[in-house]
Amino acid sequence: MINNFNQFKQIVQNTRATRRFKKDFKIKKDDLIDLVDLARVTSSGKNMQPLKYIIITDENIKKEVYKPLVWAAHLKEWSQSKDEKPSAYILVLNDTTIDGFSAIDSGIAMQTICLGATIKGFSSCILASIDKEQYKKLFSLKSFLEPMFIIAFGKKDEDIKLVDIKDNDTNYYRDTQDCHCVPKRLLEDILI
Ligand SMILES: Cc1cc2nc3c(=O)[nH]c(=O)nc-3n(C[C@H](O)[C@H](O)[C@H](O)COP(=O)(O)O)c2cc1C
Repeated sequence: MINNFNQFKQIVQNTRATRRFKKDFKIKKDDLIDLVDLARVTSSGKNMQPLKYIIITDENIKKEVYKPLVWAAHLKEWSQSKDEKPSAYILVLNDTTIDGFSAIDSGIAMQTICLGATIKGFSSCILASIDKEQYKKLFSLKSFLEPMFIIAFGKKDEDIKLVDIKDNDTNYYRDTQDCHCVPKRLLEDILI
């Protein structure tokens, strides 16, 4: 049992949405299976567990999955280059035959997966900007399986830091050193 809060805090702080990945870095399918197995035991409303997962490591499928993704909508001047693409993905699906709380369960599951990825030594980015219809066709999904989010994984190739929010502006940005800065609200502003 891990009982060091500061270590856990570091893992949480290092689990940042990452969008520039190292080229040609391989992630083993077994590592992603481990992460889905973590998600499997997370909390679930009424314990209904409506979520299903597809692990994507195949090069051809990765190309198709990548096409509709929208990266960093706030960074108008930047687009991901072909050398910065992720190494693998997990697609998160809602099984609509199960009357659960998929919107909430998916957040809990995805954060757990991302924390696990950090511990395993790679980085992640949750993306909501997917093309659900395209993915349904791509994976020949039964009509009751609804794509919700995709999580991209890879080896981080950028500096990312948390910064205190200024003027209530939550937009992330890159500073003059090309470091990706993520403004967070202050503790005193969120403790009511
Ligand atoms: C539900 C959700 C959807 C997201 N969708 C996208 C997305 O489509 N594209 C993207 O580049 N980042 C996406 N992100 C990443 C957020 O932009 C990121 O979490 C935010 O900028 C804060 O950065 P941080 O995760 O490092 O704290 C998403 C994050 C969440 C939680």
